[in-house]
Amino acid sequence: MPDDAMTLDSAARGILQANDRGGYTVPTSGLYPYQWNWDSAFAAWGLSTFDIDRAWTELETLFSGQWATGMVPHIIFHKTDSSYFPGPSVWGTDRAPPSSGISQPPVAATLARRIYEADPVAGRARLESLYPAMLDWHRWWRTHRCASGVAAVTHPWESGRDNCPDWDPGMANVDGSDVGEYVRHDTDHVDAAMRPEKEDYDRFIAIVQFGRNCGWDQGEIIASGPFYMADPAITFILIRANRDLAWIARTLGKDPGEAQVYADDLEAALPELWNSGLGCYDARDLRTGTFAGVLGSGSFLAWLAGVTNAEMEARLISVWNRVSFGIPSSDPAADTFDPRRYWRGPSWPVINSLIAIGLIEAGRFAEAERLRRETASLIETAGFWEYFDPLDGAPCGGPNFTWTAAIWLAWASPTAMGD
Ligand code: GLC
Repeated sequence: MPDDAMTLDSAARGILQANDRGGYTVPTSGLYPYQWNWDSAFAAWGLSTFDIDRAWTELETLFSGQWATGMVPHIIFHKTDSSYFPGPSVWGTDRAPPSSGISQPPVAATLARRIYEADPVAGRARLESLYPAMLDWHRWWRTHRCASGVAAVTHPWESGRDNCPDWDPGMANVDGSDVGEYVRHDTDHVDAAMRPEKEDYDRFIAIVQFGRNCGWDQGEIIASGPFYMADPAITFILIRANRDLAWIARTLGKDPGEAQVYADDLEAALPELWNSGLGCYDARDLRTGTFAGVLGSGSFLAWLAGVTNAEMEARLISVWNRVSFGIPSSDPAADTFDPRRYWRGPSWPVINSLIAIGLIEAGRFAEAERLRRETASLIETAGFWEYFDPLDGAPCGGPNFTWTAAIWLAWASPTAMGD
C-alpha cells in the first residue's frame, strides 16, 4: 500500500475524530457547528471503516432528532452555538432537541445497508432498531413531498445542493425583500465569492420565515409556500434508499412491500422530470411547470437509482468531459456556471461517491474508476476540503471536512475496500 495513502487515511480518521462532538460529528468546526443530516450518514460510512460501533451511534443520534411526523431534520442543534446563522430561534420549530424545520437527502438507508454489510454481526441489532425510524422517514417523504409523483423540495437547503442553478426558476418567484435585518456568519469563515449572494440569502431566509409563521404546517407549505420544486437528485436518492430499505426489511425477516412500492411509484413518475430538450432528467418548478434547463450533478444520480438510457448517458459523459476533476455540480457550458461558487459548478467528493456507486452497479467500471481517481487526486493534492474547482482542482469552502474525510476512507482511498 502506498505510504502517502496510509498517511491520508490516518489524517482522514483524525478529522472524523476531531469533528466528533460526542455521539455526532459536525461537518467542519466553525462554519457548520451542528449535526447535519446527510453529512452524518456519510460520517457513519467513513467511521464504519475503523469504528463500527461509533458508526451506528452516529446514525442513532441523527434519528434521535426525528419528529413525530417521521421527518428527520436537516440540522439538529444539540448544543447552542452562536457562531451559526440561522440558528434555532430563526427556525422556531419548538422541538427537543431543537432543529431546523426541513429535511435533507435521505441517504441514511443506503449507507446503513453498507455499514451493516461491513459487519453483519455487530450491525444486526442496531439495524433492527433503526429500521422502523428509517421507514417512518421514507413514509414522510411519500406523504409530504411526493404529491406530484416524484420527490420535491420546499427549500433549496432541503435538496442538500443548496445553491445550484436547478433552483433558479423557483427562487426567482421568492420575495426576499421583506426579511428584515440579519447577520450572516458563513462569510466570516469562507471567501464570500464561494458562498451564495446576498439576494439569494434573503430568499433562503424568507422561505424559512414562511415555515416558521405557519408552525411548519406541511399542508400549508405545499399549498402556498414560496418555493416548491421537483428534484431529480432526491428522487433518485429516494428510489435507491427505498430499494435498500426493502433489502434491509428482507434481511431482517420483515415485509419489504411498502418500501418497494415507494421505489416503484417514484420510478414510474420519472417522465415528469424528463427534459427532452436537455436529454436528461431536470429539476422542475411545480408551481409553474418550468424546467431549470441546466444539467447538474443531480442528473448524474440516475445511475444510483439504476435508471439508464443511452441518450442520457452519452450526454452525462459529455458534460463530465468538460472538466478534469470529478462531476461538476452544474454544466460548464451553461451561462450560470461558476466553478468556485458553492453548488454552481464545483465538484463535491460526496456526490462523486454516490455517482460512483451507481456507475459500478451499471457495470461502467472504467468510469467508476476514473471518478474515483479524479476525486482522490483532489484530496491528495489539497486535502479534505468541502468542495473543489472542477477545472483546476483548487480547494474551496471549509477545510478538514467530515464528509470528504469519510468518503476518502470508504471509497476514494486506494486502501478502501471498493465497491
Ligand atoms: C452546505 C451544503 C449541505 C451540507 C451542509 C453541511 O449547506 O450545501 O449539503 O449538508 O453544508 O456540510
